[in-house]
Amino acid sequence: MNQCDHEALQQEIRRLEGVVTELHSQLIQAQKLGSIGTLASSITHEFNNILTTIINYAKMGVRHRDDAIRDKSFDKILSAGQRASKITTGMLSYARARGDRRDVFSLSQLVQDVLVLVEKDLQVHRISLQLDLPPDAFAEVNASQVQQVLLNLMINARQAMQPGGTLCLATRRNDAAGTAEILVRDSGSGIPPEVLPRIFEPFFSSKTADSQGQGGNGLGLSLCKEIVESHRGRIRVESSVGKGTTFTLKFPLASPQATAIRTTTQAAPAQKAG
Ligand SMILES: Nc1ncnc2c1ncn2[C@@H]1O[C@H](COP(=O)(O)OP(=O)(O)OP(=O)(O)O)[C@@H](O)[C@H]1O
Ligand SMILES: [Mg+2]
Repeated sequence: MNQCDHEALQQEIRRLEGVVTELHSQLIQAQKLGSIGTLASSITHEFNNILTTIINYAKMGVRHRDDAIRDKSFDKILSAGQRASKITTGMLSYARARGDRRDVFSLSQLVQDVLVLVEKDLQVHRISLQLDLPPDAFAEVNASQVQQVLLNLMINARQAMQPGGTLCLATRRNDAAGTAEILVRDSGSGIPPEVLPRIFEPFFSSKTADSQGQGGNGLGLSLCKEIVESHRGRIRVESSVGKGTTFTLKFPLASPQATAIRTTTQAAPAQKAG
């Protein structure tokens, strides 16, 4: 190979590396939107309930002249509207691609923000929630990426459980290990020991297509692992067949004084004057 061919080859390799990087970030974003797609039906269901509440209380307020009844109607309409606004803000903030920016967050806050999106889905499938979310586990993370990890783990957990199951979400600050941790525990089917070593492999899925042709792509956990490790963190799994599964995310502990803390990932909803 002469010098000219060699340089052309090097240039082509660099171009292809750029294409791979770009396709990879598109894959992460597509997976992110795909996971929220799984929740589309329950979120629509919740909106329907909110609209029914608003319409019924508006009718009641119109029909009754009584001040007390009207006040109650306005209160109900206001809180239903605020709930709807929280969900849309949560969805927009989740779907937005945010680049690589990292800030110091309380991990509990990140869990709370994702919960807005999955609460209804859990309720529809009769899964109860147990929360242990102290405010003191801080880590410097890309909020959007960590929320993608959490949503994937919560959806997997929900899919592994029968009605009546319990999803536990906890955070903890481990000063001895220098880590800030998130635990996602379900009381679902568990993972057989022969399957366990494969779950983080790209495209490994045990989920077969359902009646709507929706199975698993097997991408969720491989991206979770990649995102956590890009934060110098670790993801661990413990599972017992028939009892359930616990995923633990460990991030380097950040000092809350080091940087200004972001208290929420959600932008405030736009206020209209007048
Ligand atoms: N909480 C869990 N309980 C039981 N099995 C699980 C759990 N989480 C993951 N698994 C197993 O690990 C496999 C891989 O999970 P992963 O999230 O990567 O893919 P998927 O859920 O099948 O598809 P996708 O996330 O792309 O929709 C699952 O198919 C399932 O067998
Ligand atoms: Mg999954």
